[in-house]
Amino acid sequence: MSPPSAQEAANKLFTNSTILAPMVRASTTPLRTLAISYGASLVYTEELVDRSIMDTERVINEELGTIDYIKPLSSFPGKVQKRMLADSDNPDCAKGAILLRIDPTLERNKLIYQIGTGEAGLAIKAAERVVGDVSGIDVNMGCPKKFSVSGGMGSALLSDPKRACDIISTLSRNISKPVSAKIRLLHPTDPQPTLDFVRSLINAGANAITIHGRIVEDESQTDARWETLVEVVKSLKHSESVPIIINGDLYTHADIREMRKRSGCDGVMLARPALYNMSLFKEETTYDDTCQTTTEATTAEELPLSEFQTTNHHGHYGYNSPLLSPRTSIIQEYVSYCVRYRNHSKNAKYVVCEMLSARRAPLSRVPFLNMSLEGGQTVNEVCQCRSLSDLVKIWDVKNTLPLPSAQNNATE
Ligand code: FNR
Repeated sequence: MSPPSAQEAANKLFTNSTILAPMVRASTTPLRTLAISYGASLVYTEELVDRSIMDTERVINEELGTIDYIKPLSSFPGKVQKRMLADSDNPDCAKGAILLRIDPTLERNKLIYQIGTGEAGLAIKAAERVVGDVSGIDVNMGCPKKFSVSGGMGSALLSDPKRACDIISTLSRNISKPVSAKIRLLHPTDPQPTLDFVRSLINAGANAITIHGRIVEDESQTDARWETLVEVVKSLKHSESVPIIINGDLYTHADIREMRKRSGCDGVMLARPALYNMSLFKEETTYDDTCQTTTEATTAEELPLSEFQTTNHHGHYGYNSPLLSPRTSIIQEYVSYCVRYRNHSKNAKYVVCEMLSARRAPLSRVPFLNMSLEGGQTVNEVCQCRSLSDLVKIWDVKNTLPLPSAQNNATE
């Protein structure tokens, strides 16, 4: 039997998907594998810029059972090398900077590499570097940060469709796995500019598209523009056959259910909602063809509200759903994954602080954040941790995850 085409593979990966979004500094190995353990069907790496991944060495880490993409120590200026060598927190720093650590067992058939690029020639070199270890390549076309835009990457591509299409067609002609793009809406209310852009990417060879329901100028706390997003996705589902994924403010199971149903999208992608409660990835219930569910109430009105049940700004029964795990136990699990993958403590601290503080989301959306944690841990306490062991202590992590058996599954 011949291997599936990139489009067939994409259809399989993205249809009915629930996806952990790419998040710089957050979507590293521990968060990705935690998301998979909760039921995420796909996970994205953080955005990794083409040039940085091109220069890495691929190393099989027998001890951890991982595949590491390492930027060698020698490629850093002397001062930086000294600092890295002196970093007693993590012995891996002596080898160089680990830009990407993949668990080939847990992330098998579930990992998408997100590339930051503005040039087809560099994009293909970076993609070829990692393509054997991932299930697809996604191009970031939504990041509004100065660093990205000034390099012609991220949202700069939204206003340069020729360059965006060149990147997609070069990737799809040269690699046999799915190529996708993550974009933002191009206009706050008019679906047409977004439709035109998406169709040009599909014509260039994109096998799936994720649409973040905000425009470039929106603050991250601006409400996602669900109405426009629904219009765009409905129209695309009418005329195109590639999977379309939606992203933006899907904070509860009811948000997810409503937007699946209204838009007819093929999958949903969660960024901050996953940070704030990873157990959103738990299957709520199975969807029938019309996305109607039969076993769960859908709105606050259908449920008796108690002090443990709150609603978000869409009036959806939310964060205290019995379906969701307590945040303390999720953070404990996250810390144990950090120990398992020998994550750098600075990165682990950053993610735990994000999980706790929800700096980037308004409380009206995530009412549970008002509630203190069982153990009373605070962001301040987390900031004061100096090592993973400190984090283990303050979170009272009892269960550490076993390393893989001597025979690991990493292959050359
Ligand atoms: C992001 N986002 C993002 N997007 C992207 O395409 N590549 C990236 O590397 C990042 N990095 C990143 C870091 C952090 C900490 C956050 C919070 C967000 C954007 C993200 O994937 C998503 O599109 C938005 O956050 C909107 O989705 P939610 O948060 O409403 O689910």
